[in-house]
This record gives sequence, structure tokens and C-alpha cells, in this order.
Amino acid sequence: MTKCSAPGKMILLGEHAVVFGKPALALAIDLRITSAVKQSDQYSVNGHPMKKKHHAYISASLDEAWNGPPINIETDSEIPSGSGLGSSAAVTVSCVAAMTCVKGKVDPENVARKSFEVECRVQGRASPTDTSTSTHGYGILVSPTKQEDLLWTIEKGKHVWNIHHCEVPSLGFVVGHTGIHAATGPLVAKVRKLVETDGEARKAVERIGEIVLDGMEAVGKRDKKRIGALMDEDHSLLNTLGVGHPMLEKLVVACREHSYGAKLTGAGGGGSMIALTDETDKVAKAISAAGGTPIVVEVGCEGVRIER
Ligand code: PMV
Repeated sequence: MTKCSAPGKMILLGEHAVVFGKPALALAIDLRITSAVKQSDQYSVNGHPMKKKHHAYISASLDEAWNGPPINIETDSEIPSGSGLGSSAAVTVSCVAAMTCVKGKVDPENVARKSFEVECRVQGRASPTDTSTSTHGYGILVSPTKQEDLLWTIEKGKHVWNIHHCEVPSLGFVVGHTGIHAATGPLVAKVRKLVETDGEARKAVERIGEIVLDGMEAVGKRDKKRIGALMDEDHSLLNTLGVGHPMLEKLVVACREHSYGAKLTGAGGGGSMIALTDETDKVAKAISAAGGTPIVVEVGCEGVRIER
């Protein structure tokens, strides 16, 4: 049996624009998914026969990374699914790592590449942000140009994503989960349509790209005020791209009094928001009072690893 775990992630800045080749900054969080792969008499997930429709990411991981005999995949998740915290990437990365692990070793670049292909197969369109963050851990800057601390480069169609390691200082974040499940694929498709037809949306994508680079600098300086201001601006640009939701807005507004900044994270349309704060308890209470589920998270955690 091989067992691997991989972390979820939060996108600090740059979601959606990254699909168009703009930079993004994502941080691994201390919620993980563990996948154990074991020989079996049929392909199954948690003891039930595998169904492409129900186990889309696991089944696509098999197609991408496995050509051995039938296996059962046992998964265990700490990440709420459809929450924008990268549960699909973490399940994919942990599965692909367990399927490709040779002599007790995992090759992170190979895992990141294969996992990105899996997300593309399932979602139709994706950036490698989630899967590379879940694989590498810590923090990831995705950018169209190569910079210091390059880990790997992933290309698809006319897009090139350079994945860089990013040092993450200790910062206080609270996630607010709306409880509303929102699938990433349709939201990405909606933004694509809008960007094709609307000049304001195209401008928003450009500006988000700039915000990410400013944000990198602010993270390096541990300038929480600046990071917070950039998060706020990014949030309103994401609303311009049509991926907001009244419940996300309610949670973001509720957090602002005790936060440096707050924004939706991930695909939007529901899912989760994040707030940067020194007062995690107060922010968690504000999220609960507004009807969301707060999760205080640590950022900059380890990436994919073998579990004994
Ligand atoms: O829904 P999530 O948390 O997996 O985030 C999606 C992020 C997008 O930028 C919207 C899509 C992508 O593949 O980068």
C-alpha cells in the first residue's frame, strides 16, 4: 500500500486572471487530503466501485498516472469540497503521488504536471496554480516570466506558467466558508465569455496581474496593510468579473472591521473568502455571526508527502 497526503491552498491574489496567463500568488494551508492506494480485485474508491461521474478527479488520475492492476483508493479529507480551498487539487495530487511513487520516492515535478493534466481533463480548462501549490507546498508565484526560485514551467496551448517557490511569513488568516457549493469549471467558462466581450472585464484581468506583483513585494516585506489593501482591490475586481456572490459579500463586509483586508478566494460564486488579520478570534466570530463557517488556517505548509 502507498499512502500520500497533499495540502489544500488559498489563492491570496490572482485567481481567474491566472487562467489568462497573468501571475497569481497561492499559499498552501494546513488542511490535507490523504489518499492510500492498494491492489484490489476491482477499481474502487473507499470500497465502492469507481464511477467516472462520481469520482471524476480520481478516475482521471488513474487514466493519467496508473497502468497497473485494479486498485482501491481510500481517501480521507480535512478540506470542505467545493469550498475554493483546493480540495480537487489535493485529492488529485495525493492520488497521483501515491500512484507514481517509486521505491518510497515522489517526484514533485512529475506529480505537478500530471495533476495539472487531470484538472484540465475534468474541468476543461485550468491553470496549474492549485495543483502546483498542493504539490510544492509553502507559497507559489505563478507568472508568465521566469524569475528567481523557479521550480518548473508548465505549458498548455498558448499559455506558459512559470511556477516559483515563494517564502511565506507567518500571517494570520481566517477562511469563511459560505457553505455554497460552486463548481470551478462553469465559473471559469463564464469569465472567459465575459472577457471576450467586455472591455471592463479585460481591464480587470490586467489590473489583477499587476496587483499580484505588488502583493509579492508586500508579502516579502511582511507589509500586512499593503497586502490587505491589495486583497480588497482584488476582491472588487473579481466582482467585476462576475464571480462574486451575496453571501461572499456579507462575509467580506463582516470581516473588514478586524482585518487588514478580505476577499473571495478560488473560483467564487459561493465557496470561501479569506481575511488577513491579527485578531483571528474576532474575525472567526464575525464570520459565524454573518452565517458562514470560519476556519483559522496556517499558511506556508509542507507540500505532498508520503505518509507511513
Ligand atoms: O476553485 P479553486 O479554488 O480550485 O480555484 C480556481 C482558481 C481559478 O483561477 C478560478 C481557476 C484555475 O484553474 O486557476
